[in-house]
Amino acid sequence: MRRSKRFAILDERPIHQDSFVHEWPEVGLIVSDGPSDPRPGLVLKEGRVVEMDGVPREQMDLLDKFIADHALDLAVAPLAMSTPSETIARMLVDVDAPRAEIVRLVAGCTAAKLVGIVGHLNVLEMMMALAKMRVRRTPANQAHVTNRKEHPALLAADAAEAALRGFAEVETTVGVARHAPLNALAILVGSQVGRPGVLTQCAVEEGVSLRLGIKGLTSYAETLSVYGTAGAFVDGDDTPWSKAFLASAYASRGIKTRFTSGTGSEALMGHSEGRSMLYLEARCLLVTRGAGSQGVQNGSISCVALPESLPGGVRVILAENLLAAMLNLEVAAGNDALASHSEMRKTAKLMCQFLPGADFVHSGFGAIPRYDNLFGGGCFDTTEYDDYYVVQRDMQVDAGIHPIREDEALAVREQGARILQDLYAQLGLPPITDDEVDASVTANDSRDMPDRDVAQDLAAADAFLRDDRTLLDVARALDAAGHAEVAGHLMELARQRALGDYLQPAAIFDEHWHVLSGINDPNDYQGPGTGYRLQGERWARVQDIPQATPPEAFLADQGEHPAQRLTELDTARRGTGSEVVIAVGPAFGQTLTATIGGLPHEAVLEALLSGIAEEGLAARIIKVHHTADCAFVGYAGAQLSGSEVAIGLQSRGTTVIHRADLAPLNNLELFPQSPNLSLASYRQIGRNAARYARGAKVQPVPVRIDNWVRLRLIVKTMLLHRRELEQVDPQRAPTELHFDWEPEA
Ligand code: 5AD
Ligand code: CA
Repeated sequence: MRRSKRFAILDERPIHQDSFVHEWPEVGLIVSDGPSDPRPGLVLKEGRVVEMDGVPREQMDLLDKFIADHALDLAVAPLAMSTPSETIARMLVDVDAPRAEIVRLVAGCTAAKLVGIVGHLNVLEMMMALAKMRVRRTPANQAHVTNRKEHPALLAADAAEAALRGFAEVETTVGVARHAPLNALAILVGSQVGRPGVLTQCAVEEGVSLRLGIKGLTSYAETLSVYGTAGAFVDGDDTPWSKAFLASAYASRGIKTRFTSGTGSEALMGHSEGRSMLYLEARCLLVTRGAGSQGVQNGSISCVALPESLPGGVRVILAENLLAAMLNLEVAAGNDALASHSEMRKTAKLMCQFLPGADFVHSGFGAIPRYDNLFGGGCFDTTEYDDYYVVQRDMQVDAGIHPIREDEALAVREQGARILQDLYAQLGLPPITDDEVDASVTANDSRDMPDRDVAQDLAAADAFLRDDRTLLDVARALDAAGHAEVAGHLMELARQRALGDYLQPAAIFDEHWHVLSGINDPNDYQGPGTGYRLQGERWARVQDIPQATPPEAFLADQGEHPAQRLTELDTARRGTGSEVVIAVGPAFGQTLTATIGGLPHEAVLEALLSGIAEEGLAARIIKVHHTADCAFVGYAGAQLSGSEVAIGLQSRGTTVIHRADLAPLNNLELFPQSPNLSLASYRQIGRNAARYARGAKVQPVPVRIDNWVRLRLIVKTMLLHRRELEQVDPQRAPTELHFDWEPEA
C-alpha cells in the first residue's frame, strides 16, 4: 500500500502507543450501558428490601445483601426510586437545586438507579455537577513520595518539599515490603517539617498498614479496596463485612479512612459478570457507604488504561467521581496512575477534575520523578509542576498546590533530611550520613543518592515494626535531639487523633491545624458567585510563579546604549536631489535607545546609512513627532524626501520603505517582525531604499524566520509601543536630526 507521509507521521505520535479496543460486553469490556446491566427497581416489604434492581432477596449475592441492608436510606428510597432519573440528573446541573437536597434523594437510590441518573449527563454537565456535589468546599491535592532506593533521607526531603508545595496528603509505598515502617516514618517527619498538619499514609498490605496506623506512623488509610462483584471480592480474600470491620479498626485509632475502587478492576480480575464498568463501580460505592467509610479514592486508579481503551472511558471515569460525591463521599479523584502516552490526552482528562475541583484533584500527584514512583510510574510528576502552576494561573483555578522558590525548596529539603538524620541517631536506627543528607537536598531522583546497607535498614525496619515504639517515642526522640518544634507537630497529630475531628467527611488540616471538612467547610456551590472562589491571599499565592516579572523589566535595557551622537535640530525641510530620508519615531534615541531585539539605535542608523552610502546616495535623518505608527512615520519621511523614498523606523525596530506617491498604509516593503531583523537586515534595507530611489532592482532582505518571537516578545512590544506613544505630539512637525557618523571610505 502507498503511504501518506502525514499518516506515517501520525503513526509515530505517542497516542499510538495507547491501547484502543472495541467493546466486548460479555467480558466486561464496556464502560456503561451494558446489555446485561440491570434495570433500576426496589421493592420494600415491612421496612426491608425484598427485591433490588430486579434481584429477589433469595437470589442476592453478598454485595446485594450488604447494599440492601446497609447502604440505602429506606425512608427516602420510595421517593428516590420513583423520581425519574432525568429529573435527578437535571437537579444536578440546576444551580437552584441545593446539594443537600440531592444528597438526601440519592441516598435512596440503587446502583442501577445511580447509573441511570449520570447516564443523562454529558461531560460538561458532570463537571458542573461535580463542582456542586464534592463534599469539601476547598479543593485539595494528594502527593506520592517514594523512591527506588527507599532512601530515608530522600523520602524525608521529598515529603518536606511536597508539604511546602501545598499537598494536603502525602503517601508512600514500598518496593520491598519490609521497608514500610521506616518509609512511613520518613514521610511523617518530612511532611511535618514542610507544613504541619499534612496527613500521611503508607500503602502496604492491610495488616501492616493497620499496624503502622496503630503505632501512629500514619494518619490516613486509603487502600481498602472494594470491588463490584462477589467474585472479585472473594478473589481478594475479602467481603464487604471484612472491609467494614477494617474501616472501624482504623477509625477506632483516629485514622482517617477512605476506600479504593474504580472502573475496570472487576474486568481485569476476570469477574465482571458481563456488567458494565460503571454499574459495577456504583455497587462499589454503595458498599463503601454501607461500610461507613467517609470517602473513596476512585476514578479507575490503577486500572485507568482499561476504561480508557474503550469508547466513553474518560467520561465514565468522571461519572464515577461524580457518583461518589453524590453519595456524600469524599473523593480522591484519580489522575494518579499512568493513563496515556499522550500529553494532550492526559491533560484533557485531567481537566475533568481540575476545572470543577475535587476533594483531592489527584489521588497521587508524583512529588518525585516518574523514575522513582513505586505506585507504578505516576501520570503527573515533578517535571510538570511549572506547567501545572501556569494552568492554575491561566484558569484562576485552585487545584491544591502553589509555586515555591528554589531556595525555599532547598532549605526545607535540608531541614527534613537533617531532622530525620538526628532522629535516626536518637532512635538507634542505621545512621544517615552527612553526605546522604547533602545529596538529598539537591537530588532529582534516587540515582543521585548514595547506596545504603539495605540488609541493615530492613533489619531495623523489622525491629521497629515489631517493638512497642509509637508516635510518642518518635516525638520524644525528636525533642531529645533538639527538634522540639517538629516534636510538637507530632504531638499535635497525636492530640488530633484523640479529638477525632479529622475523621469527619473530607477532612484535611489547614496550616494552623484547623480542620476543613464537609461539616465546617461544606461545599455551598449554588451557581455564579457562590461556592469556593480562588481569590485574595490564596489567589495571590497561586498566581505567584517565579518566572513572572514586573512588566517594567522588559524596558530595563532601554538607556543601556544612549544615543549620544544624535542631536535634534530645527524643523525638517523638504529635500531635493537623490537622497533617502530615514524617518524615525518620536521616542527614538531618547526615551527608547534600542530595538526590541536589543540593537542600539545608533547601530541601526549606521547599518541603514552604510547601505544607502553603498548605493552612492545621500541620506538625511528626520524625527517624526505627530505619530508613532510605522506606516505614517515612513509616509511622513517620504513627503520630505528629495527622491520621494524614505525608510520609516519605529523605535522598537519595525521598518517600512515608503514612497511619497503611495497611500499612507501602502508601501514598497514592510518588515513587521522587528525582533528578527539583524544589522545585516537593516543594511540591506538601506541599500534597497537607495535602489528604489535610483530606480534599480532590489535584493531580498535577509530576515530570520522565527514565528515564536511574537509570542515571546508580545509584552515587550506592547510596552515599547506605549512608550513611543507617550512621546507623540500631534501638533509638532518633523525635525531634522544630526548623526555624528562618517561612511567608511
Ligand atoms: N479498584 C479497587 N482497588 C484499586 N486499587 C487501585 N485501583 C483499584 C481499583 N480500580 C488499589 C490497589 C492498591 C491501591 C493502590 O489501590 O489494589 O491497594
Ligand atoms: Ca492515593
